[in-house]
Amino acid sequence: MNKNIFIKTFGCQMNVYDSDKMLEILSKSGYSSIDNPSDADLVILNTCHIREKAGEKVYSDLGRLRKIKAKKKSAGEKMSIVVAGCVAQAEGDEILKRAPFVDIVVGPQTYHKIPDLLKKVDEFDKAEIDISFPLEEKFNLIPQDNLNKKQLSSFLTVQEGCDKFCTFCVVPYTRGSEYSRSVEEIVAEAKVLVSSGVKEITLLGQNVNAYHGQANNGKEVGLDYVINRIAEIENLDRIRFTTSHPRDMKKNLIDLFGYQKKLMPLIHLPVQSGSDKILKDMNRGHNIEDYKKIIDSLKVVRPEISFSSDFIVGYPGETENDFQSTINLVEEVKFSQSFSFIFSPRPGTPASLRNNQISDEIKKNRLYELQKILNRERTRFNVSFVGKKLNILLEKVSSSGDEFIGKSEYLQPVKIKCSKSLIGQTFNVFVESVESNCLKARSIN
Ligand code: SAM
Ligand code: SF4
Ligand code: F3S
Repeated sequence: MNKNIFIKTFGCQMNVYDSDKMLEILSKSGYSSIDNPSDADLVILNTCHIREKAGEKVYSDLGRLRKIKAKKKSAGEKMSIVVAGCVAQAEGDEILKRAPFVDIVVGPQTYHKIPDLLKKVDEFDKAEIDISFPLEEKFNLIPQDNLNKKQLSSFLTVQEGCDKFCTFCVVPYTRGSEYSRSVEEIVAEAKVLVSSGVKEITLLGQNVNAYHGQANNGKEVGLDYVINRIAEIENLDRIRFTTSHPRDMKKNLIDLFGYQKKLMPLIHLPVQSGSDKILKDMNRGHNIEDYKKIIDSLKVVRPEISFSSDFIVGYPGETENDFQSTINLVEEVKFSQSFSFIFSPRPGTPASLRNNQISDEIKKNRLYELQKILNRERTRFNVSFVGKKLNILLEKVSSSGDEFIGKSEYLQPVKIKCSKSLIGQTFNVFVESVESNCLKARSIN
């Protein structure tokens, strides 16, 4: 019987990958994806716990779902609700206490069990919860046949979990300890993606450059090896990886940017703060000099490379001087794009217990100040392409319908008038202007 599923994804790219996999798993039980929870037989909220706001959004969505579920029930219809992801992992049965109408709670390592848990809910008429970290790896149990993908760009998780325990972060608790998939498993999944039309693969991991998986010969290898293996796949044009930790930025991976032409010239390398004192307190395991050395060595092997980062403002004990060091770093490195956040004290993390928390007003002012400079840098970066050639992957028709949208090597959206037959191809264009964060270009020839 055909049934409808609505999946809402919060948080990072790893959750996007997991949601795709949940859909693949449930497609095998007859579910098709829809865009509206009102018509759904099954709703999954794939949640994020990283900041307080992310967690709270889940409960406001659950409030709306409760009403839809009740309305359906009075019409004699059924709707099951699953809370998956990192809030599920962190809060477990708390969710069932706050929202007793939820049917299933599963963590990021147990979502492959949803079909069995749905059967149990039906059989025993009570909610099911599984937030274990099972010994059998979920990657051996989730489908790899890419049933639902029709896109040109795809994520591929190669590493999961984190052993770094930065003092502000919940990820080591919600995703568990570091695990790397084997090279063969990754290459096999990449081949399936490319055979279904994918041209660009982004390898994912909470610490993707800490990857240390097994090659065919049983030897442990790094991310550079995986990228070179994937690059051998014909018809795959572009490779990216995210998120990297400065501590794991080893020489082999830096060198790879110098010779692996399928690897895009943009690296997301979160630094969080420009102050050595704050980095030390965060337990990041590197200082600003180390960070700048990495940036310089990457520029040596790939002069056109650009950098993006994550920043936290208002970390406990951050003084005006510490904040100014962050601004100085931003002005020096000239990031092409970045994500910046107000420090959010998360339950169970060491930083949430510090007695030198910063006031909300100071945090907001610092975020405003930092974002002003980051936006200026992004505009400066975009404008630097006007009058130059840029390589794009043409992805889709624009919302207005009279233009097409491509993606540059630096992840900038590029609007262009060209033939529809070029969708899915990579080619050079000539940049004519910049419109907010989008480049406008024309075909060359
Ligand atoms: N593993 C990555 C790294 O080490 O850079 C980051 C992963 S985390 C999912 C993404 C970003 O969320 C972090 O880089 C950090 O900037 C931000 N973040 C994490 N915990 C936070 C907190 N408690 N408050 C504010 N931002 C936070
Ligand atoms: Fe969180 Fe730090 Fe691990 Fe990144 S490295 S996921 S910020 S604990
Ligand atoms: Fe959020 Fe979990 Fe990703 S906390 S950022 S969904 S790893």
